[in-house]
Amino acid sequence: MEEREKIVDLFYTQKETLDNFLERDAISKEQYDNSLNGLITKMGITKEELDRIVTKRLVLRKWRMEDAPSMFKYASDPAVGPICGWPTHKDIAESKQILNMLMQHPYCYAICLKKDIEHPIGNIELKIESDLTNKKDEGELGFWLGSIFWGKGYMPEAANALIKHAFNVLGYNAIWCGYFDGNNQSYRVQEKLGFLYQYTNNEYFVKPLKEVRVLHVSLLTKERWLSLNPRI
Ligand SMILES: CC(C)(COP(=O)(O)OP(=O)(O)OC[C@H]1O[C@@H](n2cnc3c(N)ncnc32)[C@H](O)[C@@H]1OP(=O)(O)O)[C@@H](O)C(=O)NCCC(=O)NCCS
Repeated sequence: MEEREKIVDLFYTQKETLDNFLERDAISKEQYDNSLNGLITKMGITKEELDRIVTKRLVLRKWRMEDAPSMFKYASDPAVGPICGWPTHKDIAESKQILNMLMQHPYCYAICLKKDIEHPIGNIELKIESDLTNKKDEGELGFWLGSIFWGKGYMPEAANALIKHAFNVLGYNAIWCGYFDGNNQSYRVQEKLGFLYQYTNNEYFVKPLKEVRVLHVSLLTKERWLSLNPRI
């Protein structure tokens, strides 16, 4: 990890301690804000560095246009896009077009390994515009990872952190998630996160692929998430 990233990592470790104090009412909001601002100044944390979600092994950061080659590397793999409902990227220009769109989305993050935050390995988003809900305090979770990184528990780790942020910081009360029939990998991630099956739409029209598929939909309420994560 580069020197600067070590400092940012330390910042997030200390911020997590402050977050825990605040959540347990061990400090007031004023004390929290003062301590956090002190850390930001002392460590010279930039706006971009502040808009990150950091976990044990990962950094979720905003996408940048320079990420196009990384996105293309993984999104050009036919094992990734179609299973989510979008076409395999044909060239870097297409990845740039998608990046341009994702960069406008407020809660969309490039998933990076801590040891290399310059080369994202996947995407995670809390969508504010969703076919599954139109309530202001609800969102939809979407995600994908480059196939060489599957099976290491990275997505449950990333999603848990984004869900925590959604419930504790953004004020969400429920998060929906869907998967197309047969996508056992996605089903397993949702199950590990605590999502509960709600219903099946047998005639869901997948716009980017212009085809009809069977969509299974699940839900994680804040109440259930808190009951599963009492110490968070
Ligand atoms: C779904 C996805 C994000 C899971 O991420 P992940 O970090 O691999 O998640 P996990 O490590 O917890 O693995 C989840 C499941 O994937 C399956 N899996 C693991 N490695 C796998 C591999 N190499 N190939 C296929 N499936 C695999 C296992 O069933 C695993 O469940 P288990 O832990 O009970 O054995 C990832 O598989 C992916 O990007 N898939 C393509 C895109 C997609 O389906 N996105 C979701 C759209 S709804």
